[in-house]
Parts: sequence; C-alpha cells; structure tokens
Amino acid sequence: RGAMTVGESAKLLHKDASEVIKKLITMGVMATINQELDIETVLLLAAEFGVEVEVKIAVEDDRFETVEEVDDEADLKSRPPVVTIMGHVDHGKTTLLDAIRSSNVSSGEAGGITQHIGAYQVENNGKKITFLDTPGHEAFTAMRARGSQITDIAIIVVAADDGVMPQTVEAINHAKAAELPIIVAVNKIDKPGSDPDKVKQELTEYGLVPEEWGGDTIFVNVSAKQKMGLEELLEMILLVAEMNEYKANPDKRARAAVIEAELDKGRGPVARVLVQHGTLRVGDAFVAGNCFGRIRAMVNDKGRRVKEAGPSTPIEITGLTEVPQAGDPFMVFEDERKARSIAEKRSITQRQSEMGSNVRVTLDDLFQHI
Ligand code: GTP
Ligand code: MG
Repeated sequence: RGAMTVGESAKLLHKDASEVIKKLITMGVMATINQELDIETVLLLAAEFGVEVEVKIAVEDDRFETVEEVDDEADLKSRPPVVTIMGHVDHGKTTLLDAIRSSNVSSGEAGGITQHIGAYQVENNGKKITFLDTPGHEAFTAMRARGSQITDIAIIVVAADDGVMPQTVEAINHAKAAELPIIVAVNKIDKPGSDPDKVKQELTEYGLVPEEWGGDTIFVNVSAKQKMGLEELLEMILLVAEMNEYKANPDKRARAAVIEAELDKGRGPVARVLVQHGTLRVGDAFVAGNCFGRIRAMVNDKGRRVKEAGPSTPIEITGLTEVPQAGDPFMVFEDERKARSIAEKRSITQRQSEMGSNVRVTLDDLFQHI
C-alpha cells in the first residue's frame, strides 16, 4: 500500500539503505529494507536528507503516487552565493557586515540600512551576494545535522591584533566539516600593532595556507572600521562563486531553510527564511518543521513587500500556524491539505523520537503512522 520500499527510497535519495533506516529510526519509524513507506514518509525522509524530490501523481488514487528526483541540467540557473561570516568574539564580524552593507546601499534605498532580517543581499558589479549573519554555532550544527546546508562560502574573520583564538578554530572546523570554501578576512589592520602576517602564519597550522606561500586559501586584509579592503573581499567572494557555479532551478515549488523565527505581537508567527530552490510566492502552502501555513505576506531585506522570491533570496514571511525552529526545512506543497498532513506526520515522528526508548512502540503502532 506504500509508495515505495525503504530500499527504493534509498536509491532515489542516493543514500545507503542503512543510512535511510537509521534516519527513519531518528524519525521514530522502525523499518526494514523491504518495508513500504507511504508518500508522505518518503517526502519527509527526503526533506531530512535535504534532497529534492517531486511527487508525480500517476493515478488518482493516492496509492499510486510516485516520487521522482528532478532538475535537468537545463533547468538550473545561476544563483547568488550564500556567504556566512564566522569568527571569534569581537573580531569584527558585525562591523564587517555593516560596513559591506552600508557601502552597498544606494541612495534610492536609504531604508535599506535598517536590517530587517538576519540575512541580506548586496550587489557588486551587477552580481548579487547573499550574506547571513553568523548563526550561533548550535543553529549551524543543527542545520548541518539535518542535511540542510544553506551556506556556500565561509568567511573567517580574524582580528590582526588578536590572532587565532578558540572560536576561530571552531569556525574553521565547522566550515571544513561542511566542506565549504573558506576565505579568511584578516580584520582590524588599521590598528597599530596589528600583524596580518602573524595571523597567516598561525592559520597555516590549521591547513589554511595563503596563495603566496604556496597554498590555496584566499586571504584578504580588511579594516571594517575604515572600510578598507571591502571591494577586494567582495571580488574574492564572486571569484569563488564563479568557480563553483552555484545553481538552482527557480521554476519549481520552493524549498527554503528557516534562519530564525519568532512570535510577533501584531503579526503572529514570523519566520525569516532563505530560499534554496524554486520560487516562493504569496499564497503558497508550506510546511516548516512541524508547522504549516500559507504565505500571507513576504518582506525582503530592504523592508519592502514582495510577491515572490527566487533562489538565494532571504525573505521574511507571515502566515504560519506556529513558530518553527531555526534550521527547519521549509517546503512548498501543492495545497494546504497536503501541507497539513505532512506537518502532522512530522509532529508524530518527532514526538516518537523524543519519547525515545522509554516507550515501547509496537509494530502495530508503527503501521498506523506510516
Ligand atoms: P561578537 O558578535 O560579539 O562575536 O563580535 P563581532 O565579531 O561581531 O565584533 P564587532 O563587530 O562587534 O566588533 C568588536 C569591536 O571591534 C567593536 O568595538 C568594533 O568597533 C571593533 N572593530 C571591528 N572592526 C574593526 C576594525 O577594522 N578596526 C578597528 N580598529 N576596530 C574594529
Ligand atoms: Mg557581532
């Protein structure tokens, strides 16, 4: 009665069956390789792995729905790189972001200086770059654990007067674990006594060797305070982006990641999301974590209301039933009925995994849920 077996799902998602079975356990579903999973569980599984799949209804009967991976090379369009700035406390991450943003705000968007969402886009020589405020290490790890990698490039900020510190190393480890290209921004070079070469020297210990010393890590000396080196930093980001050819299909139902969310007194639950592929539109029915809803309004990083948002666009949305969590995958579905049913299924599997081993789940219980 299911859509496909665990083994078939594994093939679809390009994972080992054992990985799929393990993932299912974390979702509270005990399954063997030949067990059939219904369409919603397969979609849920795909979302957990961060793999995009699309449902095609072959016959009217739900039971004959099939799930297919999509995206022909021809459908993929270039998208802006998503850049996260990381580094030790007080090394100047926020100042650097502010400097980049303020020197990028054109006179026509004076209001753009006020940051509306925890992410924003700048344009350099006609090319866009999306910046994310440093997510707390926890959110970063949570997102990775869920397979939703939202960052393309990591910028590690190191203050030239302070050098490599514990959180610098943590940031490097996070970026490496996520296999992100790293650009080092050696900051505060305006300070007397700052020693950018010492920072370079220290970082070689962590495998970050500058090009002039025979390595392949890009280093840029900057002063966030004096707005020095910003143009070069942006150019380097675009260079890395060009080499990696970040692409997404904008012509499909949107998938996004929740960056942050909160309950707003006037507007209810509000979430800031980053669109990963597809185009998000006002009126779309979606699931975010265990919540579902329909997009009521969207506001961009400049504080303007917009009707749609494509890949790599950060956007604030309203129309949620509850407040989702940072790192939650966000997916658009064909209608609210499907969205609701997936959100409910998610709540059930989450509750089951929270109950963990304290509860003995019988096979009969499981079959009722899958
Ligand atoms: P946390 O968010 O707390 O981790 O700090 P942060 O990395 O965002 O550092 P922040 O931008 O808040 O800067 C910390 C201090 O360093 C502030 O007093 C800044 O004014 C100062 N600072 C940042 N960049 C520079 C710089 O290029 N030169 C000098 N001289 N000071 C800077
Ligand atoms: Mg800061």
